[in-house]
Amino acid sequence: MEGTTGFGHTRWATHGAPSRENAHPFLDCQGTIALAHNGIIENHSSLRAELEAKGHKLTSQTDTETVVHMVEDAYEGNLEAALRSVLPQIQGAYAFALMHASEEGKLVVARKDSPLVVGLGTEENLFASDVHALLRETSRILYLMDGELAVITPTDVDVYAPDGSLVKREPEVVSWTVEDSEKGGFAHFMLKEIFEQPGVIHSTLLGRVSDLESDDLLRGGTSHVKLVACGTSFHAALAGKYIMEELAGVPASAELASEYRYTRASGEKPLVVLVTQSGETADTIAAAREARKRGCRTLAITNYLGCTIAREAEDVLYTRAGLEIGVAATKTFTAELMGLYLLALRFGVDTGHLTADEARKWTDELRALPRAVQSVLDSAGEIEKLAREYSNSRSMFFLGRNINYPISLEGALKMKEISYIHAEGYPAGELKHGPLALLTEETPVVALVPRDHTYEKMWGNIGEVSARGSPVIAIAYEGDDEMEKYVDHLLHVPWVKPVYSPVVNVVALQLLAYYTARERGCSIDKPRHLAKSVTVE
Ligand code: F6R
Repeated sequence: MEGTTGFGHTRWATHGAPSRENAHPFLDCQGTIALAHNGIIENHSSLRAELEAKGHKLTSQTDTETVVHMVEDAYEGNLEAALRSVLPQIQGAYAFALMHASEEGKLVVARKDSPLVVGLGTEENLFASDVHALLRETSRILYLMDGELAVITPTDVDVYAPDGSLVKREPEVVSWTVEDSEKGGFAHFMLKEIFEQPGVIHSTLLGRVSDLESDDLLRGGTSHVKLVACGTSFHAALAGKYIMEELAGVPASAELASEYRYTRASGEKPLVVLVTQSGETADTIAAAREARKRGCRTLAITNYLGCTIAREAEDVLYTRAGLEIGVAATKTFTAELMGLYLLALRFGVDTGHLTADEARKWTDELRALPRAVQSVLDSAGEIEKLAREYSNSRSMFFLGRNINYPISLEGALKMKEISYIHAEGYPAGELKHGPLALLTEETPVVALVPRDHTYEKMWGNIGEVSARGSPVIAIAYEGDDEMEKYVDHLLHVPWVKPVYSPVVNVVALQLLAYYTARERGCSIDKPRHLAKSVTVE
């Protein structure tokens, strides 16, 4: 198409099937206003009824289309004024982009509860939901706050507060480069990101391990830590529960963000730790608001400077995973684990559970993790061979106990989301309470068996599985060779303190999922039906 101004949108279907009629942008009745939207309009049914009663012709099943017709009604020669007058009637979450045929060279954008960033270029200005999309053009980014509206032309960006007053804000310069968003010789972003993990662990620890003396996050009556997150970040949060208990001696629990807000508030006021790599996950942001409403102190662990959760939570611990492009989270997960270890060690010192000396010993072991992870990466060839052997499976199980139970969940999630093989993660002791019925000779079982206090019990569980004829792939520490006699495949990971074993185990599971998906010819970086930031609740 010819022209100098425009926008596009990859729709993540919430209302109406993915189809041409439901695709953005939408036009008003006269075809002069175009609009794209990320989010959900919650009161769209009543808005649609009003518009249809006035004679508007809506052509899609989407919630979004209502807004372009409302703007049409409000339009009196100035697009931003029309949009501003419509916004108060809209309930829900949105990032909007609009243009009008007779206001050439002008884009109007607005956001509430959905992300939107503006990039300042040279003789051009841009916007997107995500910084990644802009990096090729610019590193100067203006983050739009909730409720703000911006008018973008090739030479100017004017940001307005909800009351219409002009906002003065300096752009932030992001340090991520275009190279960060390229594959650097790897077949997929996911593989590149898996291989970046030693560096990510190193940078997340950098300059952090020595400053364990901290403020009073856990003082002032906070009796426990509640970790709240979604998806892969929830698995980090669940591992975080064990990490907090072990390293900080603090009772902890993990809860799915989409469930947390529907629980009843008890009298207790835990410190609520929100784990989200993107910082834009709608359920996690809603949970942060709920936590504050309940009077809890909030702390976010996230990877994106300036993201929404960083503004919603009182404290932020940034992981330093860099840009993650593969939809399946890998390096951001290990970075989140590192954040949780750091936090737990700090709490451990704060509460007196650890002496400074003990904390130092634990941090020395943390510093050794990049090398341990590198050695798992060095065994990628062996994992690739294994993946080839089982890539035709219809179903797989992943077993772990204690701190490796969340890692079994994560191994299963990685497998199902990119290879489309049905996979279940289970606490190994639960298998006999039902799922054992599903095991056959065609159901490979991956067992995580570090030498910790669950080791003997894991042996027992492996026996139960083998007795049903299922092939067993065990992931165990180097030197643990005896197991070879009892399992079909033994993958070794280097010895690390058991509380750190999730880090080495998960890397092996990420590689297993990756090579399985590759063998099956799947779309690894963009699995079907999934999005990198889930900005709808
Ligand atoms: C799976 C995956 C998702 C995300 C989830 C939460 O590989 O990436 O399950 O973990 O959507 O995302 P964040 O961490 O951005 O809140």
